[in-house]
Amino acid sequence: MRLNGARVLLTGATGGLGQALAKALAEAGASLLLVGRDRKKLAALAINLAGEGRAIATLAADLNQPADVARLAEEAGRFQVDVLINNAGINAFSLFGQQDWGCLADVLETNLAAPMRLTHALLPQLQSRERAAIVNIGSTFGSLPFPGFAAYSAAKAGMKGFSQALRRELWQERADGRIEVIYVAPRAIATSLNTPAVNALNAELGSKSDSPEAAARQIVAALAAGRAETCLGFPERLFAWLNGVAPALIDRALRPKLAVVKRHAR
Ligand SMILES: NC(=O)c1ccc[n+]([C@@H]2O[C@H](COP(=O)([O-])OP(=O)(O)OC[C@H]3O[C@@H](n4cnc5c(N)ncnc54)[C@H](OP(=O)(O)O)[C@@H]3O)[C@@H](O)[C@H]2O)c1
Repeated sequence: MRLNGARVLLTGATGGLGQALAKALAEAGASLLLVGRDRKKLAALAINLAGEGRAIATLAADLNQPADVARLAEEAGRFQVDVLINNAGINAFSLFGQQDWGCLADVLETNLAAPMRLTHALLPQLQSRERAAIVNIGSTFGSLPFPGFAAYSAAKAGMKGFSQALRRELWQERADGRIEVIYVAPRAIATSLNTPAVNALNAELGSKSDSPEAAARQIVAALAAGRAETCLGFPERLFAWLNGVAPALIDRALRPKLAVVKRHAR
């Protein structure tokens, strides 16, 4: 997908990864419709990104509210969006049995149902563009489900399955007129999504994390290259693959780490 001149709707634009993505996309010459819930943060971001030859617009919306999604779809039509990046997300680190259902449902809604609803609302207009792309931001945990992150892992695995099914559904013989469906699974990123407990867990387990800028660079490269699926980081990529072909091996490898997860989840 050619980014110079692309018109991108970016959700979660006010977050750590979102801001880095917005900057990288603007530098590549894309116009941006930035979405988050916090009007002030959106306005500050738009001022930082304003530059010649590109349009920067903002819209405050709660993606868990169907009325907000409908409003966003209308605005996307006016903005002539041809790239949708489903980046907004939340996490909740705790043992499954100790979380209340409201919290678990929020994780599922925000990370899976909301991006599916937004994609559904935008699909007719994306199909009317000469070329379009949908980028779904997943997680290593979508392919390597982790104790302490049951709802988040389930939602991100859902995003991966949704991306694959939609890509297969939208497949066209002609290369032009195509909608690319791209799924990118980052490993840990240094943003405020991760609470001090998650950061302490990652440190004790020796899990590496990327800067938002490094993750954004790789996501933008995947979009530019039209790469269908990208898992960021090594050895995370290897373990995610191994979990697909031999999950019992990963069960065994994670068993000794459970005590550490339980200690930090408390
Ligand atoms: N950080 C990591 O370690 C990591 C690793 C792998 C994947 N990811 C994925 O990367 C994406 C971005 O995460 P991040 O690290 O940048 O998180 P972050 O800094 O916490 O930002 C999250 C963003 O999502 C928005 N958001 C949350 N709930 C929303 C809702 N109901 N409606 C509209 N916007 C909502 C937030 O907007 P407000 O400003 O309105 O709150 C914020 O802009 C997520 O999909 C996450 O799962 C992150």
